[in-house]
Amino acid sequence: MPAVYIETYGCQMNVADTELILGTLGAHGYRRVDSPEVADVILLNTCAIREHAEQRVLGRLGALARHKQRAGVKLGVTGCMAQHLRDRLRERAPQVDLLVGPDGYRHLPALLADDTDPHLGLRLDAGETYADLPVTREKSVRALVSIMRGCDRFCTFCIVPFVRGRERCLPGPAIVEQTRAAADAGAREVVLLGQTVNAYRHDGWDFARLLRAVAAVPGIARVRFTSPHPAEMSEGVIDAMAEVPAIAPQLHLPVQSGSDRILVRMARDYDLAGYEVLVERVRSRIPDVALSTDVIVGFPGETADDYEATVSLMERVRYDSAFLFKYSARSGTRADKLDDDVPEAEKAERLTRLIELQERTSAAANRALVGTDVEVLVEGPARRQAGWMAGKTPQMKTTVFSGHASVGELVRVRIEASSAHTLRGSRA
Ligand code: SAH
Ligand code: SF4
Ligand code: F3S
Repeated sequence: MPAVYIETYGCQMNVADTELILGTLGAHGYRRVDSPEVADVILLNTCAIREHAEQRVLGRLGALARHKQRAGVKLGVTGCMAQHLRDRLRERAPQVDLLVGPDGYRHLPALLADDTDPHLGLRLDAGETYADLPVTREKSVRALVSIMRGCDRFCTFCIVPFVRGRERCLPGPAIVEQTRAAADAGAREVVLLGQTVNAYRHDGWDFARLLRAVAAVPGIARVRFTSPHPAEMSEGVIDAMAEVPAIAPQLHLPVQSGSDRILVRMARDYDLAGYEVLVERVRSRIPDVALSTDVIVGFPGETADDYEATVSLMERVRYDSAFLFKYSARSGTRADKLDDDVPEAEKAERLTRLIELQERTSAAANRALVGTDVEVLVEGPARRQAGWMAGKTPQMKTTVFSGHASVGELVRVRIEASSAHTLRGSRA
């Protein structure tokens, strides 16, 4: 049996794609190994979202090249960066044997066997959903289920529509079936994945219907989803979150900027007032909801005033957590034609201030939970504290606690201490 070693970069969709790649290769006789030393095939499943993500992979490819001294070993780059750089990647990393983009995974076995046109690996295919291919899920309390692929939104800064192609959804019954299979294999939580996950629509199903159907699968205690787009957040989805206990009170609402001028230049399709009305509506319907967001600082043309508008939005909303990024120009996008005029040092300073603000806000939100009881879905032993267990609250807050508990169990934990990223306590 040939052995495959794979490393995953980027978002949860890529983690799910790695499970798909392993499922497909598994059906063709490959087995997974944990070290490149013993692999016949070495794959990097890559991300193209920012320059830094690509730099890391280029560095890693340099380090992995030595494995090609063993006869027959193949080095492949899969995912968004393969699709983004294509021939440029071949030039910069000549040790790479194959490039396979997000729509080419069906062809991986044939590509590895040199049994087909190598260009098939990089052809975008608007009909490809992989709904019929096997998935080898990580044995875990949490199962990732991709419900759609691609993106049609073309936010001006973003490479995703170019590397993942047009939006397409999997059939509702296929998603419910995948969830059932994951639950049978021991999963208690499912995360539905898509770049605009709440825009899901297929054959009479919308996202609200899908959420309710997945939440009804026996054995599934919690349903989450990422990433919803603020402009696609329907009342039906908010109703489902408010009414169905298994749908977790947690919502990632990427805002990107607090300035309307910048939101227009990003083509985000909502304005600040509309976004804040949405936040209020979600909080009034789901009082215990945890909100998170994504923000980009230093987008082309972002003035000090635009930036202060973002700071002030974050102070008003008080997110439980936030992913904060410096703008990184991506070739092929519309924003790449704008002047990337915020100096690097200024971007770094704007980012640092936002990180500090968010750390304080997260710490305060967690501190408010000290003395309360939370429900934790147990994931395994705590990483840094021998004998303790770790899991997540419904709000997705990492909780470590003393006392015995089994993986997959729902337990009550009394919170005794907190930091910006963790709650600590003991079984109540
Ligand atoms: N589909 C999701 C986002 C996917 S990418 C959504 O619409 O929200 C995850 C995050 O990376 C984005 O929300 C954005 O904040 C960030 N990002 C995307 N492109 C970027 C770029 N060119 N530079 C910096 N950050 C970027
Ligand atoms: Fe990128 Fe915008 Fe699509 Fe998100 S919605 S993946 S940010 S183009
Ligand atoms: Fe990166 Fe592709 Fe995800 S660009 S963020 S791995 S969709």
